[in-house]
Amino acid sequence: MKGVILISGSGSNLQSIIDNAEEIDLDIQAVISNKEDAYGLKRAQDANIPTHTLNHTQFSTREAFDQQLSQIIDQYNPGIIILAGFMRILTAEFTQKYLGKMLNIHPSLLPKFTGLNTHQRALDAGESEHGVSIHFVTDELDGGAIIAQSHVQVLKNDTAKSLSKRVLIEEHKLFPKVIHCFTQGRLSLKDNRAILDGQCL
Ligand code: GAR
Repeated sequence: MKGVILISGSGSNLQSIIDNAEEIDLDIQAVISNKEDAYGLKRAQDANIPTHTLNHTQFSTREAFDQQLSQIIDQYNPGIIILAGFMRILTAEFTQKYLGKMLNIHPSLLPKFTGLNTHQRALDAGESEHGVSIHFVTDELDGGAIIAQSHVQVLKNDTAKSLSKRVLIEEHKLFPKVIHCFTQGRLSLKDNRAILDGQCL
């Protein structure tokens, strides 16, 4: 299945998807970043994947940015759009357009800790467990139907950095697996619920 991947930063999740692309039947058509200096762009170039940079600071409105983003995505006619560390809030028009085929990875056990600084907030809240969620993207920030989660134990001396490292390891394992379910046609969104093999998740 053809896919487009959106990033904003280091792109370690992008790398794990690139490394597993063949196995998970994903044909990565392009990587798009809203930041020029995102290291993920280099990872994509090293893998001979076309890249685009769309600097959000050059757009006066969210709508204008999303429209341009959508134009780039549509050139590739992807069956899946993957948000791999893409740190932009998207307009309802945009999320509606790609409803059911856009997936996001978020570093918390949603619905806990939407938004930013999830690791520090989990520590501050005294959580004994933390982790990662993958969900369909809707217009509600980090609020679409949850597809899969991996749990990570919070250790006594954890810092946001040490915790984020262990969560990232789980991210890199979980995301390709979920993408594979989607490319195989086993995963879909119905009535705002994720359905895998005909069963509600
Ligand atoms: C990952 O931890 C991802 O879950 C998170 O950004 C990081 C990107 O790292 N995404 C979000 O916070 C989205 N709300 P990466 O660029 O190395 O893949």
